[in-house]
Amino acid sequence: MDSLSNTALREKNIVFIGFMGAGKTTIGELVAKKLFRDFIDIDEEIEKEYKMSIPNIFEEIGEQAFREKEKEFIQNLCHYKLKIISVGGGAFLQEEIRKVCLTSCIVFYLDITWDAWKNRLLSIIDSRPVLQGKTIDEIEELFYKRKEIYQNHFHSKIEINDQDLEELADNIVETLKLSWELDESK
Ligand code: S3P
Repeated sequence: MDSLSNTALREKNIVFIGFMGAGKTTIGELVAKKLFRDFIDIDEEIEKEYKMSIPNIFEEIGEQAFREKEKEFIQNLCHYKLKIISVGGGAFLQEEIRKVCLTSCIVFYLDITWDAWKNRLLSIIDSRPVLQGKTIDEIEELFYKRKEIYQNHFHSKIEINDQDLEELADNIVETLKLSWELDESK
């Protein structure tokens, strides 16, 4: 990993973190397109590996095995450069994942308010086993517990409300280009 921490900023992978349904995949895809880079969604990779949906993986193989696979995929990807990666909302609960991402990638935290997020609940709950069987109060508690973790482990924070996603991706690309130039002028 040491050699990766020395990777030029411009070449580092970019990782999107944040709560389920914050828009990590959509925004990651847009940013990847704008930068002409590969986009990798970790959940999608895990689904391909098991040939099952995330809810089925949780049900048939279990969350523990899912978490191990999640760690394995992220650690492997961190050996590459120039990738745009979206990780599941639970990935940063694992210290090893936080460490490897913060060392070898640029981590963008997509920060959404509870009020904006709760309008999205119905559209995402069926595909998110972690949310199922919980009351709205329990989900809110989980939301703030996770927020506590995200907000202490990122390089750049993007506030998500109801703005245009293209515009948001443009802002991210602009921020990145500025920080690359700054890094190269040192
Ligand atoms: C999870 C988030 C999901 C997926 C899995 C567990 C979590 O990804 O990895 O259902 O624990 O927060 P998204 O954040 O992309 O929804």
